Amino acid sequence: MRENIIFTDLAKELQAKAREIADKHVRPGAKKYDDLQEYNWEAARAVAEAGLFRTFIPKEYGGHGAGILALAMVTEELAKADSGFGVAFAVNALGSFPIILGGTEEQKQRWLPSVARGEKLVAFCLSEKFAGSDASGLAVTAEEDGDHYVIRGEKKWTTNGGVADIYSVFCVTDPTSKSRRISAIVVEKGTPGFTVKKVEDKMGIRCVPVVETHFDNVRVPKANLIGGKPGMGFKHAMMTLDLARPGVAAQAVGAAQGALDLALVYANRRQQFGAPISSFQMVQKMLADMAMKTEAARWLVYACAGAVDQGAAEKVSKYAAMAKCFATDVAMEVATEAVQVFGGYGFMEDYPIAKFFRDAKILQIYEGTNQVQRMVIARHLIREANELEHLAAYIPNEVQNTYRDGALITHSRKSEPAQR
Ligand code: CAA
Repeated sequence: MRENIIFTDLAKELQAKAREIADKHVRPGAKKYDDLQEYNWEAARAVAEAGLFRTFIPKEYGGHGAGILALAMVTEELAKADSGFGVAFAVNALGSFPIILGGTEEQKQRWLPSVARGEKLVAFCLSEKFAGSDASGLAVTAEEDGDHYVIRGEKKWTTNGGVADIYSVFCVTDPTSKSRRISAIVVEKGTPGFTVKKVEDKMGIRCVPVVETHFDNVRVPKANLIGGKPGMGFKHAMMTLDLARPGVAAQAVGAAQGALDLALVYANRRQQFGAPISSFQMVQKMLADMAMKTEAARWLVYACAGAVDQGAAEKVSKYAAMAKCFATDVAMEVATEAVQVFGGYGFMEDYPIAKFFRDAKILQIYEGTNQVQRMVIARHLIREANELEHLAAYIPNEVQNTYRDGALITHSRKSEPAQR
């Protein structure tokens, strides 16, 4: 089913390398790093050596420039073995996209080649205690001081925090502006005043650190302002998320497939009533549903990622949100069903499936909750409905909105005149 024309040779080659690394370096350590809540450096080094960090970096800066679909395929393979490691990999793309999308030539030359080589890891600092879904409501400030910005405040839920060397930090540079309040600034590890204060104790994805980053009068040169022009930060954040969400969706496909694979192997071995439980129709229904949903999610993700690569322009946000929302809901459903297939054993941490269940939950939350994704999709749909005006002829007048001078007046009823 997967043999088709949309995959480049490069994407297939990267996917095969990722699968090999997942089998050799990710899956065997998944439980250990989850238990210890430690970063899997061994797997990260293998990813670097195989050149997989080059996947999302443009060719001019030492990358493969392989595109979002290739990034999704690589991420899926890694996440199939360990969903936590899937994000440990993909978050480097999330942190790099602001530089790739908005950085100056000098900034790209300065930071991207070391990311491509896997020498430097990257993090994305957008969320704060009081600014999660409402990403424009940031409080961290960056104040101009000569040739520098001085950053003050705290960021929350920084994935890769502590292990990363490069941080794309979103700060308020103009509190008086509505649309140009925010700028993105690169802060490098070791800059005085920049610290990791709290390493979160998480339900899942425990092999990758998620931390609070604190900025205590952190002075960074103005040369680190992404794009060299203030006020572009919110747009860059949104454009970044549009490119990164297919990666979360791919993590979800990997997680769903990983859980399904384990459930299948278990169901063929677990005997009850004198037969493998995979011979029972109720279990078969569960397995079949899990497989259908996973395959549907995979192809939505590939279609969306492929469309993004082909410059789907104004539809990028909608496609990215659809892929992220659908695939991550599927991952949660499939992981839940997989635990059910494992029965009592599924509830125990001795068995690998409990981790899939714990890891799946965050997929519906980070890089925009699935409520936010649905809102983004609906906003697009409502805008695009302008193209469907020819269908208005088929909607009876009695339920049509009444407009006067372009403004909505009321929903008119047959018996009542429209009122303002
Ligand atoms: N591309 C470019 N520009 C965009 C855009 C996009 N996709 N979406 C919005 N914009 C622009 C708008 O055009 C508008 O520009 P103007 O001011 O010039 O008109 C501006 O941004 C404001 O847009 P909205 O009015 O639509 O913004 P909003 O305040 O209503 O918020 C939102 C929209 C979709 C809710 C957004 O805030 C959002 O995506 N929230 C979720 C944040 C998120 O995903 N956080 C996760 C952080 S990363 C993470 O999870 C951590 C990790 O490490 C894994």
